[in-house]
Amino acid sequence: MKRYHDIVGDGGSGILEQVAEQRARITDGLAGVRHLVAVGSGKGGVGKSTLTLHLAGALRARGLRIAILDADFNGPSQARMAGVQGALFVPGSHKVSLPRTTNGIAVFSMGSVIPESEALEFESAAQGESHTWRATREFALLGEILGSFEWGALDLLMFDLPPGAERTVQYADFLGPQTSFLLVTIPSEVARGVVARSVAALSKAPNRLLGYVENMSGYYCRDCDAIKPLFASPPFDAAHPSASPGMGIPCLGTVPFDPELAQYCDRGFPLAELPDTPVGRALDHVAQQLLESLT
Ligand SMILES: Nc1ncnc2c1ncn2[C@@H]1O[C@H](COP(=O)(O)OP(=O)(O)OP(=O)(O)O)[C@@H](O)[C@H]1O
Ligand SMILES: [Mg+2]
Repeated sequence: MKRYHDIVGDGGSGILEQVAEQRARITDGLAGVRHLVAVGSGKGGVGKSTLTLHLAGALRARGLRIAILDADFNGPSQARMAGVQGALFVPGSHKVSLPRTTNGIAVFSMGSVIPESEALEFESAAQGESHTWRATREFALLGEILGSFEWGALDLLMFDLPPGAERTVQYADFLGPQTSFLLVTIPSEVARGVVARSVAALSKAPNRLLGYVENMSGYYCRDCDAIKPLFASPPFDAAHPSASPGMGIPCLGTVPFDPELAQYCDRGFPLAELPDTPVGRALDHVAQQLLESLT
């Protein structure tokens, strides 16, 4: 039996050439993209997917060319939220063309391919070993998606990341230093603690940390047309947005919880259909801050 030390180079698998070839296809496919922005958190359920889609919507309304890559392969939400469930992937002029939302945002989401009643399986040769392959397979798949779809000329490609502080760093590593990060938290000490840990972990990477957004910063009550507190934690100090203790990166804004927005996410309606509301204005403000942080 060959031992590890007996294997010379790549063992004749040609894996190094395959990786180099995939990297070249990714670089070629992303050549027309001005900015790569990953929306992460470390913490789950804080609104990464919601903010990715609706910030994209706010930027699209300003005329920017935007695409979203839903990198959460196991819990994809963009297909439903963006209204591209069951969308067909058809051949483009060169690679595979991406489905678009009604307001023109190109979206790749596993949720367009796999129905919600099915799990994404990463098969493994040996039973009980799938965990050893999972991350490798996930990133190989991400590379395939980046290399196989027509991203075209874009102002912004946004990555909707899965939760997990350690995974956030793995995405930074895979996507490379040209990808900037926007983090999302909610006003609970639990969430802020987890996100602060992600900030600490990402600080060791060469990627730019653009800042964070505080989502669910109060909830919008339609009956009284006012923002009411949602968490007991001290409210965000708008006069000192970058002074939030523990985070150490700029705050790009706060977004209230709006039950109507949650409904829009479930039904796949774009933000543009929400009339002038506090949540719409807040998202627009964050979109502006995001643009400024990128220039
Ligand atoms: N500001 C908001 N107003 C109303 N609903 C919101 C808001 N932010 C998020 N939600 C809702 O909260 C739920 C969780 O949000 P979302 O799926 O975006 O979180 P996530 O951080 O992407 O979760 P995961 O870690 O599982 O990927 C969704 O149903 C979404 O519609
Ligand atoms: Mg999500």
